[in-house]
Amino acid sequence: MKSARPIYDNLFEVIQNRRSKRIFLEKSVPDDVLEAILNAGFRAPFAAQLCSLIYTRDRKKIKDLQPMGVYPTTQVLIFPLIDLNRHEQVMNQRGHSYNFDDTLALWLGLQDVSLVVANLTLAAEGYGLGSVLLGAAPIVADELVKMFNIPKRAFPVVGLCLGYPDPAEHTEIRPRYPLSFSAFEDKYHQPSNKELLEAMKVMDEGYLAQDYYIERQIKIPLLKGKDSIDYDTYSWCEHISRKFISGGWSKGSLLDTLRKHGFNFD
Ligand SMILES: Cc1cc2nc3c(=O)[nH]c(=O)nc-3n(C[C@H](O)[C@H](O)[C@H](O)COP(=O)(O)O)c2cc1C
Repeated sequence: MKSARPIYDNLFEVIQNRRSKRIFLEKSVPDDVLEAILNAGFRAPFAAQLCSLIYTRDRKKIKDLQPMGVYPTTQVLIFPLIDLNRHEQVMNQRGHSYNFDDTLALWLGLQDVSLVVANLTLAAEGYGLGSVLLGAAPIVADELVKMFNIPKRAFPVVGLCLGYPDPAEHTEIRPRYPLSFSAFEDKYHQPSNKELLEAMKVMDEGYLAQDYYIERQIKIPLLKGKDSIDYDTYSWCEHISRKFISGGWSKGSLLDTLRKHGFNFD
């Protein structure tokens, strides 16, 4: 098989320019490119290699998963898994049996998965592909388990849509909290009210300047009371706050879902 060549090899250029892409060209991702991206994913540091992944290029599967938020023009759909099933097989081969705290194993698995995902997204950019993550994977774990034959004690953490980005999609670099609000030297820093408001302003004005919510007509309704915030002020801080006002997983708790898929928290 020929070896794929990245179109960028300047890591900082890739990191600084990355933004989520949600519309892709009808152009398939060659095997060598996909293999290079997957390999780059697994070059991430690991705690115990508790991450495996399922991927598909099957148009029907991609279509069937659209109700969970998969973008229709996705060319490769990836579900990184926390995989204790595979790990236990390795242990068994070595004559050991698993007797570990599943909450800690899940935590280690999440650490491994996060790093693999970060590498996958950057490697994809390096090969000229775009991506977007999908947070709903755990909510639809039952469907994914069935579709991809995922065994017990392996669990999808997130989804990742990949493809060559459609240049017609309007994307912008989204703002982030200022570094002083996110990175603390030597000692955790509780922001003063002024610092808090300044950090929130960076996010809110950044999203307002990009017309993000008005363009998409995205607004999470309030549970009670009159909603007096209109699109001239509805921005990221209000949006992310409203997301956490109530609820959680639509079908019971995540712990219950994990129990159903073979994890043990007793
Ligand atoms: C764990 C995770 C889950 C996400 N889930 C979704 C999703 O379900 N749908 C979506 O359109 N974007 C999703 N995103 C993308 C974020 O909206 C996006 O990364 C964020 O708005 C910042 O924009 P940027 O990636 O362009 O910098 C997700 C991102 C992460 C890290």
